[in-house]
Amino acid sequence: MTKTINPLAFNAAFKYAPAPESKTHIQLKPRYDLFINGKFTAPSSGKHFDSINPANELKIAEIAEANEKDVDMAVKAAKTAYEKVWSKMAPKERGKYLFRIARMIQEQARELAVIESLDGGKPIRESRDIDIPLVAAHFFYYAGWADKLDYAYPNKKPVSLGVAGQIIPWNFPLLMAAWKIAPALACGNTVVLKPAETTSLTALKLAEIIQESGLPEGVVNIVTGFGNTGAAIVNHPGINKIAFTGSTDVGKIIQKSIAGTNKKCTLELGGKAANIIFEDAPIDQAVEGIINGIYFNQGHVCCAGSRLFVQESVYDMVIRILKDRMETLIVGDPMDKNTDIGAINSKNQLDTIRKYIKYGKEDGAEMFQPSCEVPNKGFWCRPTLFMNASQSHRIVQEEIFGPVLAVQTFRTVDEVIEKANNTPFGLSAGVWTDKGSKIFNLTSKLRAGVIWANTYNKFDPTSPFGGYKESGFGREGGLHGLGAYLNFN
Ligand code: NAI
Ligand code: MG
Repeated sequence: MTKTINPLAFNAAFKYAPAPESKTHIQLKPRYDLFINGKFTAPSSGKHFDSINPANELKIAEIAEANEKDVDMAVKAAKTAYEKVWSKMAPKERGKYLFRIARMIQEQARELAVIESLDGGKPIRESRDIDIPLVAAHFFYYAGWADKLDYAYPNKKPVSLGVAGQIIPWNFPLLMAAWKIAPALACGNTVVLKPAETTSLTALKLAEIIQESGLPEGVVNIVTGFGNTGAAIVNHPGINKIAFTGSTDVGKIIQKSIAGTNKKCTLELGGKAANIIFEDAPIDQAVEGIINGIYFNQGHVCCAGSRLFVQESVYDMVIRILKDRMETLIVGDPMDKNTDIGAINSKNQLDTIRKYIKYGKEDGAEMFQPSCEVPNKGFWCRPTLFMNASQSHRIVQEEIFGPVLAVQTFRTVDEVIEKANNTPFGLSAGVWTDKGSKIFNLTSKLRAGVIWANTYNKFDPTSPFGGYKESGFGREGGLHGLGAYLNFN
């Protein structure tokens, strides 16, 4: 019998004192321009927009809005840098720049972590311990490949593509920039990157690091703005490859736009991952994995374990432990080191999540939320659990991208495989069991790009990541991530 403590009594007895991370060491300018050809350049429209802190709705800085003309300048700068400098440079020299950038990121890790949490709302513990270390690790990892491409692809003569247009979302702002920029540069390409409109700041700090690193002008260009800035990159004839992470809807628009062109493309889109608990699983550990899988980063994770499948015989126990654990989660100030769940990234995203919570109730699932208080200002959502969900429910079929978990039960292995695969998405999944044979059986039958066994949401620059079906195509990370930025002669 698994013993649990009463979390309400626990919380009352051990209320943590606030432990806010200091903000005094960060340097932010009141206004940021576009990073084109190695220089910060005012946008030709003269327009800037505000980036706010979603935890208190206060303005942090102004961000330039790039239009087609600015994007054209950025692409031309990238093309010139590609032809004249970067593609001609000895690969080991390219590697040195990447190593230098990686080291500078490590040196500025504390500042980057704080800005990531201020601008995006994620708990400082996550940006400090997960995002920023992984950012540096990606640059280190791909720096190592720069002069070893011939070994990665023996007898295949890998060659770079040219200019990569890269468009990224707001859930892992700097990490997504690293996933995109590091392999592209290691393979000898130059880039034009657009961060998401709500979280541009760490990408602009990276631009400062890149400038200071002495990377040749135009190798990395960072243009900020909204969807139309992204579309200008996608449609620019000088772009040779598009790498996009974001919504499935925009992924489809991008595919249509580039149909009939020579542009290569990788898309990393939405997900609706199944997290599956068998009766022989270590239940406490599995519950911790479920919590990490869906409530981590407010559920703003494309591979979030948003559908939970529990074997019927352990259902009551799992739900009891899960609810108890949810009662102990701390929702609030992202800058506090005790915080488990920070702010929802934007008002828009909060509206979407609320819409789905309403759908969940309307469709007949049973809702549970812990009794925690949330701040008045800012965008907040309590961790939410829906029991008795069914396959047809909208909360089971559609991506919510928030801290909302839908639970279903199953009896047999075949039943859970069928249910888990019954989704338009196929990015990731999790399996919890004591039996290696069950893990191998499921990993070969689940249609998902990444499957974790007895763990969840673990990332490493050496392992490839990417989806099936409407979750997109192509892989990022690892050796596979290089292939996306190369042609083979
Ligand atoms: P989005 O797909 O609109 O935004 C992602 C990026 O694409 C941003 O940089 C945005 O400016 C850019 N973009 C928007 N329209 C574009 C266009 N027509 N052409 C080129 N670039 C364009 O995602 P949004 O609206 O921020 O979030 C909506 C939903 O998408 C979320 O609720 C979530 O379900 C999903 N999403 C999935 C992500 C993932 O990691 N797979 C990341 C972010 C959102
Ligand atoms: Mg912001």
